[in-house]
Amino acid sequence: MSAPFIWGVATAAYQIEGGREQDGRTPSMWDAIRLIPGRIKDGSPIDLSCDGRNKYKEDVVLIASLGVSHYRFSIDWSRVMKNGKTRNPIGMEYYKDLCKELRKAGIECIVTLFHADLPLDLYNEGSWLNEEIIDHFVEFCRFCYEELKDYVSLWITFNEIRMHSWVGIVKVEGEPFHSLDMDHTKFLGDVSITRAIMIASRNMLLAHAKVYRLFHEMDDSIRVGLIVGAHSCFDEEGEKITEVSERATKAMVHFYLDPLMSKLNDWTEGVREYLGDDLPPWSEEEKKLMKNTIDVLCLNYYRPHLVKEGAGSSLLEQIFKFTMVDDKWPKIGGDFSWLRFHPKGIISLMDSFEAKEGEEDNYPNNVPILISENGCNDDGRHNSIDDHNRIQYLGGHIDAVLEARARGVNVIGYTAWSLMDNLEWDDGFAVRFGLFSVNLSSENKERTPKRSVEWYKKKIEDEKKRMEI
Ligand code: BGC
Repeated sequence: MSAPFIWGVATAAYQIEGGREQDGRTPSMWDAIRLIPGRIKDGSPIDLSCDGRNKYKEDVVLIASLGVSHYRFSIDWSRVMKNGKTRNPIGMEYYKDLCKELRKAGIECIVTLFHADLPLDLYNEGSWLNEEIIDHFVEFCRFCYEELKDYVSLWITFNEIRMHSWVGIVKVEGEPFHSLDMDHTKFLGDVSITRAIMIASRNMLLAHAKVYRLFHEMDDSIRVGLIVGAHSCFDEEGEKITEVSERATKAMVHFYLDPLMSKLNDWTEGVREYLGDDLPPWSEEEKKLMKNTIDVLCLNYYRPHLVKEGAGSSLLEQIFKFTMVDDKWPKIGGDFSWLRFHPKGIISLMDSFEAKEGEEDNYPNNVPILISENGCNDDGRHNSIDDHNRIQYLGGHIDAVLEARARGVNVIGYTAWSLMDNLEWDDGFAVRFGLFSVNLSSENKERTPKRSVEWYKKKIEDEKKRMEI
């Protein structure tokens, strides 16, 4: 019998925890970003947080009230390793307590080892541009594994590997700025920014593979995945998949997966044509290390894009010679949101891993897929508790996922983003993705369920019954 479908909810450490110096935590890159005047759009001060670190017992009760089977959270590297390099058992104790509490409530843990934030010392030493970080990451992951292995059913090395390599290290034209202003030439010499991004991508992929091998050496029944932030693309002409839309999807999604899970075991076919010498080659030994190192393919899906031929203004569009066009899909998160409602995109994304008629299969047959994030921000025009837009968004996507599953796509679970309103990176607390609202001005940071809480619980119950028939 196949394992029950995973129904989950997700958060990330820096976005909810707070407690910057609690547990002997050392500063991180996001602490430094938040201290720069004007960098956080809503001006929220650095010590404002949901206090997830101290309210975890209460939060586990909220998680359980949703009726989910799994909770996806991340581990704060700066809390469990001082300066990113030295074990800090006091920081780890908190995650153990959280796992124990989840177990008591019958909830399984999915752990993301790296979700956007990095110990500041490691950032200042070059972040993912400096290959020495790989060993520090492996040691951090080893510590997490040793301490938490009894509780975790799925380990995820990186959240949104493309996003981090493009936006989390250096400043890149046309991408959000989620880092400090690093001069990459200090670490790599006089190379282009594209080359710097590719080196970071390469180091992250190698780090993933090393952690995969280490964890499997310790326990071969373990499951390790990687998350790509997956914005599928359609051609502007009638939402078709054409050469240009496929190229854009490949650049954003498949590029990071092909070395690890495709038959090719190399960078995606055809990308060298666009990247030239900026694309670092792999040695045969590295390819062997990376080969087949994804047990569960994890997709964060929020929206698709419409594209057309010809270089747009961002660096990504310049390199891969496509332009994202204004799309016509509903702005479900309000006028200023980047979200669009088009659930068909999640199906097309999953289908992009299937062989097309007449083509040889490039991906392992029926690879297990987990939707590791999908969610919608409050529409500021309405009272945030009445989140009908979120219900419409989640409902549309869950139905699409289940439709694909019924058709034979091996999608093993769905994880909603996010448990509670939290720090939406440089948007601060102004953009709210939570199923629970958080009163940030109250001393107790009280949580209140939005309408979607009751709805998600009922949806899970109904779908579970349907799956049993
Ligand atoms: C990230 C989250 C973020 C969410 C909504 C995802 O790409 O993993 O950290 O809060 O998008 O913007």
